[in-house]
Amino acid sequence: MCDPHEQVWAAGASQRTYNRFLLSALPVLDIAPAHSPAGPAADPIDTALARVDDVIRQRLSSRVALIDQIAQYIITAGGKRIRPRLVLLFAEALGFEGPETYELAAIVEFIHTATLLHDDVVDESALRRGRATANAMFGNAASVLVGDFLYSRAFQMMVSVNRMRVLDVLADATNVIAEGEVLQLLNMRDPDLSVADYLQVIRFKTAKLFEASARLGAVLAGASPAVEEACADYGRSLGTAFQLVDDLLDYEGKSVELGKNVGDDLREGKPTLPLLLAMEKGLPEERDLIRHAIEHGELHKMPEIMTIVNRTGALSGTRAAAQEQADRASQALTALPPSRARDALLELSVRSVNRSS
Ligand code: IPE
Ligand code: IPE
Ligand code: MG
Ligand code: MG
Repeated sequence: MCDPHEQVWAAGASQRTYNRFLLSALPVLDIAPAHSPAGPAADPIDTALARVDDVIRQRLSSRVALIDQIAQYIITAGGKRIRPRLVLLFAEALGFEGPETYELAAIVEFIHTATLLHDDVVDESALRRGRATANAMFGNAASVLVGDFLYSRAFQMMVSVNRMRVLDVLADATNVIAEGEVLQLLNMRDPDLSVADYLQVIRFKTAKLFEASARLGAVLAGASPAVEEACADYGRSLGTAFQLVDDLLDYEGKSVELGKNVGDDLREGKPTLPLLLAMEKGLPEERDLIRHAIEHGELHKMPEIMTIVNRTGALSGTRAAAQEQADRASQALTALPPSRARDALLELSVRSVNRSS
């Protein structure tokens, strides 16, 4: 038993001692806000994101100090805030203005953060947003429970928006994300996973929240069903491209830029597209090596595997699949009238494929 959190429990600690132990492990929070208050020349999206961060700060509060601390720890560490951006940009592109936009943008970031807290426990990840993961810092139990707090806080906020369609979209998305994570668990260490089944996991665990975020902008603006579907299509395609690139960066990315460890997927035996394509295109002995590495989560085989994925073009194949999805996202934007927000959405889809963080 090497987890210090478990050791404290095993020593028969009372709840109060355990709380004191956790609080003593807290780092000094000297974190700059993810988006500093915008100056006069700031991009309007930065001003809007700063407002979303204000809502996030207000809604994070809990009577339980440990919840405040852990939630602040992960939320104030930054993150790209892509999902809130989608809510803001689609609402703006369709001419909606109102405080609900900021509330919904904060809600999707809370749901996203809850999934990250849970995902890092499941994936046994040690680094997130450039710092130790909450599970590494505070233990698995605290991480899972604070993830639950963030999910349920998001639902309290949804109710306060008082729109049935909003509840419908977000309840559905949250449920599908959970299905995606469980499906992925079932696929772990399975080298025979089909590309179609791999893509289904991506659609569920990642693209669904992108889709919901984009759709919510349209729902707020009271868009026609056809326009709402185009927004949802953009979100779904962008989210799929985004996860494909995430899976690519787990092989070719840099940990300092990503703020998370590369190689986590291989260590876990996750059959992602870079490995599926390398097995499809590789020689029989290369295929066997990758199969074995997936079945046993062999991170130490990374050098040989990198040679194979490069030789077979599996990384560029993964990037091409992401590009196809990003193009589809760009295409969906033609349903929107031209605007500054639409241009920003186009730039987001173009950049999603070439990102390094
Ligand atoms: C990480 O999402 C999880 C995936 C869907 C790949 P992000 O890359 O959006 O994480 P942050 O919010 O910027 O940290
Ligand atoms: C995305 O998958 C997980 C969620 C949608 C929560 P990953 O497991 O690849 O995400 P990272 O790489 O840990 O951010
Ligand atoms: Mg993960
Ligand atoms: Mg990943």
